[in-house]
Amino acid sequence: MTKKLRILTGITTTGTPHLGNYAGAIRPAIAAVGDNSESFYFLADYHGMIKCHQPERIHQSTLEIAATWLACGLDPDKAHFYRQSDIPEIMELTWILHCVCTKGLMNRSHAYKAAVADNEAKGQADLDHGITMGLFSYPVLMSADILMFNAHKVPVGKDQIQHIEMARDIAQKFNHTFADIFTLPEAVVSEESELLQGLDGRKMSKSYNNTIPLFVPEKQLRKLMMKIKTNSQAPGEPKNTEDSTLYQMYKAFANADEVAEITKRYAEGIAWGEMKQILFAKVNAEIAPMRARYDELTAKPEVIENILRAGAERLRPLSQALLAEVRQAVGIRKLG
Ligand code: TRP
Repeated sequence: MTKKLRILTGITTTGTPHLGNYAGAIRPAIAAVGDNSESFYFLADYHGMIKCHQPERIHQSTLEIAATWLACGLDPDKAHFYRQSDIPEIMELTWILHCVCTKGLMNRSHAYKAAVADNEAKGQADLDHGITMGLFSYPVLMSADILMFNAHKVPVGKDQIQHIEMARDIAQKFNHTFADIFTLPEAVVSEESELLQGLDGRKMSKSYNNTIPLFVPEKQLRKLMMKIKTNSQAPGEPKNTEDSTLYQMYKAFANADEVAEITKRYAEGIAWGEMKQILFAKVNAEIAPMRARYDELTAKPEVIENILRAGAERLRPLSQALLAEVRQAVGIRKLG
């Protein structure tokens, strides 16, 4: 029997899911859950700690992200859905991988280099000022996440491609040095992953503070949509679809016929105000049933806790077996 293709991705638990996360990552990941592959989706809470030292934020974000995926239709019986910290073997593997990963490889990490460049720009004498070992070596933790379950494909945003390549390098180094245990993972970057622009027309991102949170109450969703930046063209003036944030967003939620109709309306000079109403109605129609489930779930955090724990328990026989093999290979063995 050939092994099923394993698809794995992690979500760092520092933020509140927004429309861009939904259309670019959550919706396609849930749609990809199927019988021909095995999906592993997890909450990377130890990754959360790298940049966030606010315990309440990590805790709240873990709840929000888990509730979001479940409310959006992820079936925890069909996909592995778990929390990184519930699988302690990942931490143990992280150390073992640290011991085969060269420091030079980490020196080249974009995240680390960006932090150094930031210090340089600020005129810091110590270019490593404020940079923790967690930030420096976080590609090793990410490698452990991926290699632990021998994932084949890792769907990520463009900014993460380098980390998957590092995971391959680390896996290869281990396999070569000790034993051929790890599968070499491949990044999958979907065109959709940066689909949506934010309120100000730049990429929707928490760091730009321009997001539309996925599950705000309906009234607030409408209000936020009314704030999306447009140009100053008057009603009746033909409008360009290409640089229109409203149009991009509509496209992410509408079917081909609806998009064709709106394209026509742009050429005819639809008023921005009307377009915003149409967009709101379209997005809200898709989100509303999920919002109701989300509100129900977040009111019962113990239900979510149990789902995550069950997800981890189901996987631990795999992680324990892999770690046993790895320890054996590196010489951490029984004496007699
Ligand atoms: N670092 C990833 C991000 O910021 C999240 C992540 C953690 C991840 N572990 C992973 C993604 C393993 C893919 C595979 O987006």
